[in-house]
Amino acid sequence: MNTGNKPIDFKKNSILIIDDNPMNLRILVDYLERYDFKIMVAHNGKKGLERAKLALPELILLDVLMPELDGFETCRQLKENDNTANIPVIFMTALESLEDKIKGFEVGGVDYITKPIQHAEVVARINTHLRMQDLTASLNSKVEELTQTRHELIQSEKMAALGKLIAGIAHEINTPLGAIRSSVGNLSEFLNQTLMQLPIFFKQLSEKHQQDFFVLLQKSSKIDLTLSIKEKRNLKKALIGELEQYGIPNAEMIVLSLIGIGVYKDIRPFLSLLKNPNCQTILDHAYQLSSLRRSVQTITIASDRATKVVFALKSFARFDSSGKKVQANIIDGIETVLTLYHNQLKPGILVKKNIAELPLLWCYPDDLNQVWINLIHNALQAMDYKGTLSIDVLLHQTHISVSIADSGNGISLEIQERIFEPFFTTKVAGEGSGLGLDIVKRIIEKHNGKIEFESIKGKTTFTVFLPLNS
Ligand SMILES: Nc1ncnc2c1ncn2[C@@H]1O[C@H](COP(=O)(O)OP(=O)(O)OP(=O)(O)O)[C@@H](O)[C@H]1O
Ligand SMILES: [Mg+2]
Repeated sequence: MNTGNKPIDFKKNSILIIDDNPMNLRILVDYLERYDFKIMVAHNGKKGLERAKLALPELILLDVLMPELDGFETCRQLKENDNTANIPVIFMTALESLEDKIKGFEVGGVDYITKPIQHAEVVARINTHLRMQDLTASLNSKVEELTQTRHELIQSEKMAALGKLIAGIAHEINTPLGAIRSSVGNLSEFLNQTLMQLPIFFKQLSEKHQQDFFVLLQKSSKIDLTLSIKEKRNLKKALIGELEQYGIPNAEMIVLSLIGIGVYKDIRPFLSLLKNPNCQTILDHAYQLSSLRRSVQTITIASDRATKVVFALKSFARFDSSGKKVQANIIDGIETVLTLYHNQLKPGILVKKNIAELPLLWCYPDDLNQVWINLIHNALQAMDYKGTLSIDVLLHQTHISVSIADSGNGISLEIQERIFEPFFTTKVAGEGSGLGLDIVKRIIEKHNGKIEFESIKGKTTFTVFLPLNS
């Protein structure tokens, strides 16, 4: 007999019938056995509970009216036990009372059939509930499977993200390490080869030339990094012309050496040095010494970069080296950063400040300095060190806001969503690692603040909001 859409494998279905009326039991068992159900019986509630726990049938037919433990109480106890709680219970009741039916559902029954029992109805209801039980079981196992798969997916996503992050970090640390390695190479080559010759070299120079030599070195330390290729080419031409005017032979070779040292103009003070017959040797030594200085500069910049990556990593791993918050003046931090950047600001940047008086703020001041450094640095890079940098600090009722605006080209719409991602950068290697804004965001979140930006061509403003009582 097939009462549903799908044939059911009756063989596997075991049913426990609990009824105190032997007559009823007999008829029902006879009938159901024809359908190949595996039937077990119990004559009262207590026995029924015992059998259910032992045999774990797939369904229970339960009489309501029984002496001692009635059907409702038996059902309640079945539902209390973890092993039997999920076995569907169908009540058999002679009562037509609505209350009893409701009570049957309340204690955990899934259905009821009324006596006198219509056999076809019993089979239909049994089949329905067995099928539902089957479906529930397979649904549960699907849910479990899905949960597991989801867990695995999240895990592999995490691993992929971690892999990406580590690759990025490896690259970011490798670049400055490479710079440090080659600079250290320069330094040790100098120490091995040139250092020994220096005393002899200086002895050969007159006192005046020795002084000139040091002035030349001084100049080399002030290389103007902002010169364009075209500007350099023009300066070189002018320099050759100037040397030729003074009648200095080999003007072209000498200019090449001067440029190597970083001297593009104002050579008047060294004219007598340049007229020295040993001029080329002198310039070679100056070149070696100035490259020594450059190597040291490179090492400083490179180790700063590596430090920055490590700082980002630490904040990524939520290490907190700075410990407790302290009360500090935010403006002092901003002014300090502006002082640090003084040299890069002076030639081409107009700084406009509008700074309100602020109360002291509970914060991590060193971390906040990182915020100002990164935002100001980004602003300067965005304007190529030429334009207007505006800094506005305002006091509101519940928070302060610090806006840093530049007159650069702006952030194109396509990348606006990505700029806070770690390692997202539009700058060439060495100029940007893409960690700046990620660090900024983490620090601000640590202060329960937020950061927003607006950008159009010619004006980009980053605004940091910090709560007054965090
Ligand atoms: N003021 C700005 N104007 C225009 N673009 C900006 C500005 N600030 C950030 N950006 C864009 O956002 C990107 C990410 O900035 P972020 O500070 O995170 O990294 P970065 O400056 O490239 O490198 P790093 O800060 O690590 O040296 C930048 O590469 C740049 O494209
Ligand atoms: Mg940056």
